[in-house]
Amino acid sequence: MSLVALDDVSKSVLLADDSRLEILRGVSLEVGAGDHVSIVGRSGSGKSTLLNILGMLDAPSSGSVSFEGREVRRMRSGRLDRLRGDNVGFVFQQFNLLAGRTAIDNVMMPLGHARGRMFWNRRRIAADMLERVGLGHRVDQIADKLSGGEQQRVAIARALVRRPVLILADEPTGALDIDTGASVMSLLDEVATETDAALVTITHDLHVAARARRHYRLDAGRLETADLSRAFEASTLAASVPSTPPRADA
Ligand SMILES: Nc1ncnc2c1ncn2[C@@H]1O[C@H](COP(=O)(O)OP(=O)(O)OP(=O)(O)O)[C@@H](O)[C@H]1O
Ligand SMILES: [Mg+2]
Repeated sequence: MSLVALDDVSKSVLLADDSRLEILRGVSLEVGAGDHVSIVGRSGSGKSTLLNILGMLDAPSSGSVSFEGREVRRMRSGRLDRLRGDNVGFVFQQFNLLAGRTAIDNVMMPLGHARGRMFWNRRRIAADMLERVGLGHRVDQIADKLSGGEQQRVAIARALVRRPVLILADEPTGALDIDTGASVMSLLDEVATETDAALVTITHDLHVAARARRHYRLDAGRLETADLSRAFEASTLAASVPSTPPRADA
């Protein structure tokens, strides 16, 4: 059985001028335990919107979303909040950290609703996760005083700390240098493998996308399977074309 399934999902919004913007069109996608899916696509193609729907933070305009075989639309909001809190780890594109709170407060937050040992040991569990993202020396730093890349790693630690079965990462390496990005992606893979979680990664980086087992592209709201080897070829080709014409005396 799939963990989360979208069936013919569309999303549109009404704009201020009364026109309708179609953000997602007929998207179907099934993600199972242990699955690793990547989604690439141009800015504005609907990637974050799709991730919000997968994470049950947003509802589609039409089509259905099921979590472990149950239709999300039919759930009461309290039950949905609990389901999300227990099962989904979200790395937001804009991090969404609590301002004025320390790194460890942010990472402990999802454990405030956990039960048993996870709850009682929450400070140590959060500190261990911050250590794993390379921020063991920054646990008591106020989150908004951290650098962009450090904030992104706090966001990643927060998403993983409760061992969610569904990890949704929106540009998780967007603010990181190549080496830190690679180690953060290894950590996401590692934690997902440890708990047989599903990992859905949105990225502009083809190397990050290539780590996934299944690759998709969003193009103007339509989801299609992506051929990454062709995308790599196209990008190296583009990189080899000089952007400015060579000087005559060169
Ligand atoms: N609530 C909303 N009201 C109006 N427009 C919206 C709303 N939500 C999303 N959009 C528009 O839908 C389009 C898709 O947005 P989305 O954030 O999903 O894109 P994206 O693929 O994640 O882009 P990026 O790579 O820049 O993060 C954008 O043009 C955005 O402005
Ligand atoms: Mg986005």
